[in-house]
Amino acid sequence: MKPLISPSILAADFANLQRDVEMINQSEADWIHVDIMDGVFVPNISFGFPVIQAIKKHATKPLDVHLMITEPDRYLQQFAEAGASIITVHFEACTHLHRTVQAIKDLGCKASVALNPHTSVYQLESILSDLDMVLIMSVNPGFGGQKFINATYRKLHQLTTMCSEYRPELLIEVDGGVNLQNAPELIAAGANVLVAGNSVFADANPKLAIANLKHSE
Ligand code: DX5
Ligand code: ZN
Repeated sequence: MKPLISPSILAADFANLQRDVEMINQSEADWIHVDIMDGVFVPNISFGFPVIQAIKKHATKPLDVHLMITEPDRYLQQFAEAGASIITVHFEACTHLHRTVQAIKDLGCKASVALNPHTSVYQLESILSDLDMVLIMSVNPGFGGQKFINATYRKLHQLTTMCSEYRPELLIEVDGGVNLQNAPELIAAGANVLVAGNSVFADANPKLAIANLKHSE
């Protein structure tokens, strides 16, 4: 099956956000990946609600919102109201993850949990059946344009094996350093949603870069 493609708006030209969102609208992308960084959970700050609302105003595709923030519960409702369709929280940022996941679902959004490179997929065993998606970080979160970490493949194999027992329909998203070279192996290992920032927006033809990823199995 073809992967879903979620271009990361973090790599867009923020002075031309409407143009870049419209490029995604016209492309073969399925979602728009929106990276939220708070300068505490990760050593970088990206943007907040006014920018998400501006993206939502022009987007014709679902917003896939990746929260790299501490205490995400405090802001879930605001992210839903700003237009998020999928909300991802970090395992490492949630003390009461089950409660957080239920809160996301109660807001009418798809619930997803992200794992940092050092976090084992087996940490999710008890909650897997409640999740719509797991996001495997293939770089340390905080910045676009980093080098892909090869241990990601092993985690994908472990997660797909665990899913076959607990949650066969789970979406598995990979985020960080994804490009046309590693996409086929990621898909073969079980990834079915690919986030791509630099490999799309640094390309001379971003729309074609998205199409190439979409057909890269
Ligand atoms: C990193 C973000 C990623 C980032 C991906 O913390 O979560 O979504 O935008 O960018 P690339 O594809 O350039 O690694
Ligand atoms: Zn992300």
